[in-house]
Amino acid sequence: MIDIHCHLLPDIDDGPASMVEAVDLARQAVVGGVTHAIVTPHIHHGRWENTKKGIRSVVNKFRMALAAENVPLSIGYAAEVRIGIEILTMLPNREIPYLGRWGEDKVMLLEMPHNRILPGTDKIVSWLMKQGVRPMIAHPERNKDVMRKIEKLAPLIDLGCLFQVTAGSIAGQFGEMAQLRARQLLEMGVVTVLASDAHHIKRRPANLGLGRDAAAKIIGEGEARKLVYDNPLRMVGEQFTVDSLTETEALI
Ligand SMILES: [Fe+2]
Repeated sequence: MIDIHCHLLPDIDDGPASMVEAVDLARQAVVGGVTHAIVTPHIHHGRWENTKKGIRSVVNKFRMALAAENVPLSIGYAAEVRIGIEILTMLPNREIPYLGRWGEDKVMLLEMPHNRILPGTDKIVSWLMKQGVRPMIAHPERNKDVMRKIEKLAPLIDLGCLFQVTAGSIAGQFGEMAQLRARQLLEMGVVTVLASDAHHIKRRPANLGLGRDAAAKIIGEGEARKLVYDNPLRMVGEQFTVDSLTETEALI
């Protein structure tokens, strides 16, 4: 499987606090069947001031640590970018680390506040789309506005956003409402990918396989596989070497 949203890097956001913890979390992902991961540290103005250059530097150290510890996980990187007006300057300044591509568009992982969908979200999304950037909304099923009323997501669906549902939500780890919304989004066929959003080996584990198995019970194994392999591959495949991806395909 290919996990396109996880916080595996040490001491960069609310993910692992040290390289030892980071390697342990990566090992957990591998044991669970993940071969490739795109690490997505938070970029959140005023809270996590991460930059593309800073992320790349930690990624290099992390890759070396994984190699030294014999953890066979290929690492690419992007970021989970918090919605805000800063995006309007980050984009032209080439400060956004993209996940990859979806057709002709670049894809960015966009985080909304957990308690609501901010007014003006549709305007930022429309502007991004005009710049050839397609937002993928991180875990919409956990957003309180969406939990209250699933129709709140309709404008973002209509604008062409992609949607990442979190594995633990489908398995019920974020409560009944998040689980219900995850199920509904799967049944509506609007989910692009599943991802672990792993932060910590115990509190927020790397459990993509659990999500895939829970999703398979709702949409069938073939469709569930698309969400953890085919669609992620289409989106982020360019971050990895062809050789490593061929090996992965043989495993699935
Ligand atoms: Fe995240």
